[in-house]
Amino acid sequence: MNSTDLMILAVILLAVLIYVKLDTLKELFSSNDSDISVANGGSNDIVQLMRDNDKSYLVLFASQTGTAEDYAKRFAKELKSKFNLNVLCKDVENTDLENLHELPSDIVVSFFVSTYGEGDFPDGAVMFEQYLNSAQLPDLKFTVFGLGNNTYEFFNMAAKKTLKMLLAAGATLIGELGEGDDGKGTTEEDYLSWKEAIFDSLHEHINLSETNNGFKSSFNFTYLDSIDDNAYLGELTEDYLPHHEVKNVANIKHPLITKITASKELFKSVGRNCIHTEFDISGSSIKYETGDHVAVWPFNANEKVEQFMSTFGLDPKKIFNMTPSDSTMKAPFPCPTTIETAVRYYLEITGPVSRETLSVLSEFAPNNIKQYVINLSKDKEGFAKEITAKKFNLADALLFLSQGEPWSQVPWECLVETLPIITPRYYSISSSSNADPTKIHVTSIVENSPNDLTGSPTLGVTTNLLRNVSLHMNSPESTKILPVQYDIMGPRNLYGGNSLPIHVRHSAFKLPTDISVPVILIGPGTGVAPFRGFVRDRVHSVTSGENANMGKIMLFYGCRDENDYLYEEEWPQYSTQLDGKFEMIVAFSRISDKKCYVQHKLKERQNDVLALLNQGANVYVCGDAARMAKDVQHAICEMIAQDKGVSIEDASEIVKAMKVNGKYQEDVW
Ligand SMILES: Cc1cc2nc3c(=O)[nH]c(=O)nc-3n(C[C@H](O)[C@H](O)[C@H](O)COP(=O)(O)OP(=O)(O)OC[C@H]3O[C@@H](n4cnc5c(N)ncnc54)[C@H](O)[C@@H]3O)c2cc1C
Ligand SMILES: NC(=O)c1ccc[n+]([C@@H]2O[C@H](COP(=O)([O-])OP(=O)(O)OC[C@H]3O[C@@H](n4cnc5c(N)ncnc54)[C@H](OP(=O)(O)O)[C@@H]3O)[C@@H](O)[C@H]2O)c1
Ligand SMILES: Cc1cc2nc3c(=O)[nH]c(=O)nc-3n(C[C@H](O)[C@H](O)[C@H](O)COP(=O)(O)O)c2cc1C
Ligand SMILES: *[C@@H]1O[C@H](CO)[C@@H](O)[C@H](O)[C@H]1NC(C)=O
Ligand SMILES: *[C@@H]1O[C@H](CO)[C@@H](O)[C@H](O)[C@H]1NC(C)=O
Ligand SMILES: *[C@@H]1O[C@H](CO)[C@@H](O)[C@H](O)[C@H]1NC(C)=O
Ligand SMILES: *[C@@H]1O[C@H](CO)[C@@H](O)[C@H](O)[C@H]1NC(C)=O
Ligand SMILES: *[C@@H]1O[C@H](CO)[C@@H](O)[C@H](O)[C@H]1NC(C)=O
Ligand SMILES: *[C@@H]1O[C@H](CO)[C@@H](O)[C@H](O)[C@H]1NC(C)=O
Repeated sequence: MNSTDLMILAVILLAVLIYVKLDTLKELFSSNDSDISVANGGSNDIVQLMRDNDKSYLVLFASQTGTAEDYAKRFAKELKSKFNLNVLCKDVENTDLENLHELPSDIVVSFFVSTYGEGDFPDGAVMFEQYLNSAQLPDLKFTVFGLGNNTYEFFNMAAKKTLKMLLAAGATLIGELGEGDDGKGTTEEDYLSWKEAIFDSLHEHINLSETNNGFKSSFNFTYLDSIDDNAYLGELTEDYLPHHEVKNVANIKHPLITKITASKELFKSVGRNCIHTEFDISGSSIKYETGDHVAVWPFNANEKVEQFMSTFGLDPKKIFNMTPSDSTMKAPFPCPTTIETAVRYYLEITGPVSRETLSVLSEFAPNNIKQYVINLSKDKEGFAKEITAKKFNLADALLFLSQGEPWSQVPWECLVETLPIITPRYYSISSSSNADPTKIHVTSIVENSPNDLTGSPTLGVTTNLLRNVSLHMNSPESTKILPVQYDIMGPRNLYGGNSLPIHVRHSAFKLPTDISVPVILIGPGTGVAPFRGFVRDRVHSVTSGENANMGKIMLFYGCRDENDYLYEEEWPQYSTQLDGKFEMIVAFSRISDKKCYVQHKLKERQNDVLALLNQGANVYVCGDAARMAKDVQHAICEMIAQDKGVSIEDASEIVKAMKVNGKYQEDVW
């Protein structure tokens, strides 16, 4: 490489960096979604906020996607219920910590910090890091729990930096640094054992009195006699209530109910399902770019709602309102509403059960099993075997433990605060914003896996809902074939059987703007979704006359056999339209004795792939994160190593550099 090459490379690198940073900045400013359930109690000054609201403990979190936030909130809740502490739980973003040194010395601060990038803090914690760097906090007592993933080189580095800076500021650590590890999948257990040790150590530093009255609500619940137009029946925002005007804005705090104009089954075989859904965004403020993600807001199936209601003996029609007992908190979902509405539309009732949830509910267990439940909630292995391995949801687990007897002692107030809120699910958009500007296509595999241990299948909330909508639109007579049914008319008929709330999330997964750059697309299974969008985008360029020097497109796709070959009839047409510039290479994994995957096909086509890479091709990988993306990256490293005559380690450094430069992009889940 000569010096001109180096300079060009440096300029490209800089441009990429600026581009990436701009993206994060745009994302940061494009929505106000930082503080979803912690309202601002007047001031931003942390000490004043504590004083004004009579708080005796502070929990601060720095989170990017909400994991650190979840754990922080759980920790705060348990401090309240166990020790009757009045806890303030707050995002470090938008919090003024300048006066933290004035915090009374009997107040402990617990930090929950996740790590990103090269051991960096989350985007919203830049000011927090700056503050800590020069803080003087000789009287502060604190704990730190980090959220990270050991497959990254800088494991839990942001939490470690937090600890280091606080110690340098003269503060006193209580207990030890906790390190949650996603990589090993032990975050939950890492948290629980850290937390138990912290609760023990806290006694040495502050005056804690264990309250034996168990669960304490942080909200003031009132029960009402009748429903009026101000009561929520599943509406996600106020403007969808009767007599309101719907705001035409779409973001994580305000999804827009959007009409599905077409939907169909993509698999030919029975037993597995993959649903193609087309949302019509014409006239809506929803905009997207090819490669973005769309969030679909689901709700629970009738059968699961009924199971939940009967497990706890709840009265579905009961109307309640919950108001925070102080201004630093916010209700987790819109109120007033009915118990049934909350169970159907607002709470996540079917996911895996955490040991801590069982521990919280154990005080309300039927008497004859109470001690057993308490024991199980403290027994890591026993819980894994009896509950987790069977893929029980909460109702399944509790009914299993009580042998079918309802848990009618559990207060509704406790359920509301213990269960997570139902969250939108993201999908890689499979249409092109240029070819299909008014449509968002989704390609979703329906989660329905048999469960040998219990006999009843484990079902995904959103994907089974999309299937119910699809069948309803195409063959409403086929009622019996669904494992569960949904009330697809929605709250006050807002969904009408063919609409759902959505919003779009911007992604950095983008084709090169220069269409002469060749691309290698690797997406088995539903991983092909964004690539259908990419290819339709290129077809659009050609049909609008932009085909002068389009680079080659190689798409490596994998499926079991002809039955789950997604969009099989569309690809030949794209190939014709792209005049041979587009080639699709398919790995069928189950038509011969030997497994054939995308990475095997990559190796078979090694010469062509390397030729494109040497021409500066971009590589895109989409789909399963657990194994496929790793295996594919390994295969590409091997190919590069061979080509360049370097070691695998050096080849993986090359791939890492490509990732930094946006030449190797992943959209994996
Ligand atoms: C950026 C991104 C892009 C994505 N793109 C796509 C895409 O293009 N196409 C696509 O199909 N998916 C995509 N996904 C995945 C998608 O977001 C959903 O996770 C997926 O569709 C399942 O959603 P669900 O609501 O149906 O299942 P959920 O209800 O969320 O369940 C998730 C899984 O847990 C299992 N499960 C449920 N309850 C339990 C229990 N009690 N114990 C153990 N296991 C349980 C379910 O069977 C299911 O497999 C993407 C994800 C991300 C993050
Ligand atoms: N539990 C898991 O470990 C696992 C793995 C993949 C996907 N998933 C989930 O299963 C659902 C269906 O996913 P999907 O439709 O995208 O995929 P899919 O239909 O399960 O798989 C698509 C193709 O990829 C193949 N494949 C399996 N392992 C691979 C690997 N390590 N490298 C390359 N190819 C591989 C499959 O082969 P075979 O099936 O014949 O092996 C199949 O031919 C999704 O929810 C996904 O998250 C789970
Ligand atoms: C793009 C990306 C980069 C990450 N970088 C690191 C890292 O350098 N070190 C680490 O320990 N964990 C890293 N992680 C793992 C996250 O910290 C971990 O998943 C954490 O639970 C996320 O918490 P949050 O939801 O509060 O943001 C990374 C995750 C992603 C998605
Ligand atoms: C974010 O919130 C502020 C203050 O409430 C408001 O002025 C601003 O318009 C909001 N921005 C967006 C993009 O919603
Ligand atoms: C941890 O990081 C690795 C490497 O990026 C990734 O494959 C894996 O899915 C991550 N684990 C979780 C649970 O996010
Ligand atoms: C601890 O609290 C108890 C009860 O409120 C009180 O009597 C005692 O003086 C306190 N001790 C300290 C060290 O603050
Ligand atoms: C709870 O709400 C009721 C009715 O609005 C009110 O009378 C009561 O004072 C509230 N209690 C607390 C502790 O805020
Ligand atoms: C619970 O655990 C205790 C102590 O390990 C044991 O003595 C007791 O028998 C257990 N009780 C039940 C019901 O499992
Ligand atoms: C889907 O749900 C609705 C109930 O909202 C039901 O009427 C319909 O029959 C369901 N199933 C099918 C296959 O359409």
